[in-house]
Amino acid sequence: MKVLVTGASGNVGKYVVRELLQMGEHVVAAGTNIEKLNLLFGGDVEKVILDFQDLKTYQQALHDVDRLFLMRPPHLGKADDLFPFIDAMKQHDIQFVSFLSLMGIERNTIPPHHKIEKYIESVGIPYGHIRPGFFMQNISGIHAAEIKEKKQIFIPAGKSKTSFIDAEDIALSVATILHDPGKYENTAHTITGSESLDYYQIADILTKVTGSKITYAKPGFLRYRNYYLKKRRLNKSYVNVTVALYFMTRLCTAKHITTDFTKLTGKQPCTFEDFSRKHIKCFK
Ligand SMILES: NC(=O)c1ccc[n+]([C@@H]2O[C@H](COP(=O)([O-])OP(=O)(O)OC[C@H]3O[C@@H](n4cnc5c(N)ncnc54)[C@H](OP(=O)(O)O)[C@@H]3O)[C@@H](O)[C@H]2O)c1
Repeated sequence: MKVLVTGASGNVGKYVVRELLQMGEHVVAAGTNIEKLNLLFGGDVEKVILDFQDLKTYQQALHDVDRLFLMRPPHLGKADDLFPFIDAMKQHDIQFVSFLSLMGIERNTIPPHHKIEKYIESVGIPYGHIRPGFFMQNISGIHAAEIKEKKQIFIPAGKSKTSFIDAEDIALSVATILHDPGKYENTAHTITGSESLDYYQIADILTKVTGSKITYAKPGFLRYRNYYLKKRRLNKSYVNVTVALYFMTRLCTAKHITTDFTKLTGKQPCTFEDFSRKHIKCFK
């Protein structure tokens, strides 16, 4: 039987594919854009079109699949957007799902991940929820442009601390439970890094690794929102969600550290310094 990886071209999904292949699993990589998947995985991996918003794509994607990595694409803002696919998973007798959720979601009913977790549980598919902290890839991805061009971190997180985690470590956690589902049936795992850093410390690490002075601009919410909407021209609802997330971060919701990653994998999570060395091209 096969393991379906949704969002296989995404930050986490691409590493879930790699880890599962290394564990000897038969993997099917799914997404709406097959060309993207071909570029990423070449001929090594089976691929299938899956669009959560197109019921016609479900049958083929779920064919011969018994386990599944489920992620919510960031632009699908409502939990209900994923419910039809979860119903289809149940109809296709999926034996185990690992859902990419969010740290602290058990106490926070606002983000869609809360309702998605509850829905998976209510339809009765055995699950292993993965609840990660903030991805290090936010800094090497969406926020890297200002670091590269202006030597500045432009994030409205105030003086708050965050227990950043590398998406590769999240993916290893996901693959570990998908590879041995019986051991992890109906469990939830909060995956964080081993250190909690504020953005001044992040700037210091990036200064050390890149050899160029990088500072933390510490913008307010309005300045950040205007900049990302008017200068970066990013999607309004996406920017609003990030404002809400950084508001929560300022309330100290992102600084908690757990040892769940080590318990699952026997390894230590990647530090931000090692991560920035690995992805130095994103910052220079
Ligand atoms: N960033 C963080 O710090 C953080 C922390 C905790 C949790 N999370 C959660 O992690 C999730 C994002 O994961 P990620 O960063 O790995 O994703 P990502 O890099 O943003 O990638 C999104 C993926 O979704 C696929 N996709 C887009 N539209 C789709 C559709 N209609 N149907 C099916 N697939 C579709 C895309 O593939 P195609 O282009 O091929 O369709 C792509 O692979 C979100 O739910 C977010 O809330 C993020």
